[in-house]
Amino acid sequence: MKRVKTAVVGLRRGATLAKFALNYVKSIEIVAVCDLNRELADKFALENGIPAVYYELDEVLKTDVEAVILATPIPDHAEHTIKTLNAGKHLLCEVISATSIEDCQRIANACKANPSVRYMMEENYCWYRPLTIVQNMIKAGLFGDMYYGESDYLMDFQFRAGFPDSVQPWRRKTYFGRRGHPYITHTLGPLCYTLGSDIKTVTCLGAGSHPGVPADRTCVLLLQTHDGGMIRLRNSFMCTRPDLYTYYSVQGTKGCYQGSVGATDTHKVHIRGLCGSQEWRDVYDFRGLLPKEWDMYPKDFFDDSEDNGTTKYDSGTPLLLDAFAKSIISNTTPPVSAKRSLNWTAAGILSEMSINNSGQPVEIPDFGL
Ligand SMILES: NC(=O)c1ccc[n+]([C@@H]2O[C@H](COP(=O)([O-])OP(=O)(O)OC[C@H]3O[C@@H](n4cnc5c(N)ncnc54)[C@H](O)[C@@H]3O)[C@@H](O)[C@H]2O)c1
Repeated sequence: MKRVKTAVVGLRRGATLAKFALNYVKSIEIVAVCDLNRELADKFALENGIPAVYYELDEVLKTDVEAVILATPIPDHAEHTIKTLNAGKHLLCEVISATSIEDCQRIANACKANPSVRYMMEENYCWYRPLTIVQNMIKAGLFGDMYYGESDYLMDFQFRAGFPDSVQPWRRKTYFGRRGHPYITHTLGPLCYTLGSDIKTVTCLGAGSHPGVPADRTCVLLLQTHDGGMIRLRNSFMCTRPDLYTYYSVQGTKGCYQGSVGATDTHKVHIRGLCGSQEWRDVYDFRGLLPKEWDMYPKDFFDDSEDNGTTKYDSGTPLLLDAFAKSIISNTTPPVSAKRSLNWTAAGILSEMSINNSGQPVEIPDFGL
């Protein structure tokens, strides 16, 4: 079987991705790792038997690797993406694609200039296990026509002594340095992926202030999809409560999925015809609908009862890595295409324009893709 020769660049989050690939993904061969931090790169390569080590992305781009998995800080994504695509390397880039509309357009232009090169954003939450079951229930027609989705992503960075200065400078700038909420692809992406439509307009309002932090404590976004559907998101990095990373709900004409909001909750579905009018069923009653790709994990790997909306966001990440590699091998568009990656990223970026105009809807550009 063909395996895609891949380098992983940025070995904090990238180490997790590399280990997933090494342990589970047959379609990827990790041939090199790279980090500016030489000690980190050397240690990872030694411990995991990686044949080549580099200390700067530019060095990787001079080699014969076919693909790069990029997990560098968000403000560097646009420059790193453009040089990687122009070097003819397929790219899986961590979230989010870019931090300005101009950079989204430059990435789109680089994709167009290199049509045989694949670009995909690493929006792993699209493969979140309960949501994957729901996606297959939708495909089987159990939910009817889909028209609504909602998601919450609530975390608390305030507990860190010295906040906001205690946060890495790039995170401080990206998450807290402006109004609106650019980091929305974990909430938005999986909903678009599940509902099957991307974003036409974004509206954003916010509330709560923290000294020295331009961002609101919480933002609510209302987004209209191209097919007339609607999405509601609440995002916060300054929210005093237990974390919630993976709350999703989707609504169709025949049924609804309501995800877990914490330790005592469950993932549940109501399907008219299969449930009484006020009855919920556990989504895992339908686990037989998980695609066979999930067999890449060892049997009994998952304890679904532990999945409570906070910790299992990486449950399907190896499947994403496999889907990226298979799109290269089969020369097909990756499931999170460049067009979708930039649409979801741009919706977050433009939430700033909406919030600064008292919640006026803002149209998402199509970037010519
Ligand atoms: N999808 C997810 O669930 C998820 C989870 C965590 C982080 N992330 C994303 O992963 C990315 C990285 O996050 P992080 O927390 O690991 O950041 P980090 O700042 O902790 O680590 C980034 C690493 O990249 C290295 N690096 C920077 N520039 C480089 C270059 N030119 N060449 C080689 N190495 C370079 C740095 O030395 C550092 O080790 C971000 O985009 C973040 O949003 C995604």
